[in-house]
Amino acid sequence: MKIAIGCDHGGINLKPVLIDYLTSKGYEFKDFGTFSNQSVDYNDYAEAVCESIQKGEADLGILICGTGIGMSIVANKHKGIRCAHCHDVFSAKMTKLHNNANVLAMGERVIGPGLMIEIVEAFLTTPFSNDERHVCRVNKILDLEDKVF
Ligand code: RB5
Repeated sequence: MKIAIGCDHGGINLKPVLIDYLTSKGYEFKDFGTFSNQSVDYNDYAEAVCESIQKGEADLGILICGTGIGMSIVANKHKGIRCAHCHDVFSAKMTKLHNNANVLAMGERVIGPGLMIEIVEAFLTTPFSNDERHVCRVNKILDLEDKVF
């Protein structure tokens, strides 16, 4: 499993904790930045992570900004991306199980490093249920992407 990660300046302190965790567990990952605490647009990092998934270079993405909200809004504008904005372990587990989410967004100004790691662990280790109901609902999300409003 390949993981794409990204943050803006609002997530710059949690990303090293995430990197340490992914490294210690042997996950293959690519860091799309940002790499300093200089103010940047979260949009650019969410886009880079999502595009790597769209190209098939990564399977999952993890995004961190101040709240996780801006990142998740941008991520969910991408075809094929189902980004879950999670600040609790139950939601992180359920969004894989029921929604087959492929991107996780979190906010450094909302949660601390310990909870972040538990959320990430739940997200990375929970499989999609493959239950017929959930497959149907995820397929309806994919169908929606082809409609023009
Ligand atoms: C940056 O100040 C902040 O707006 C950003 O990290 C994020 O919280 C946006 O949703």
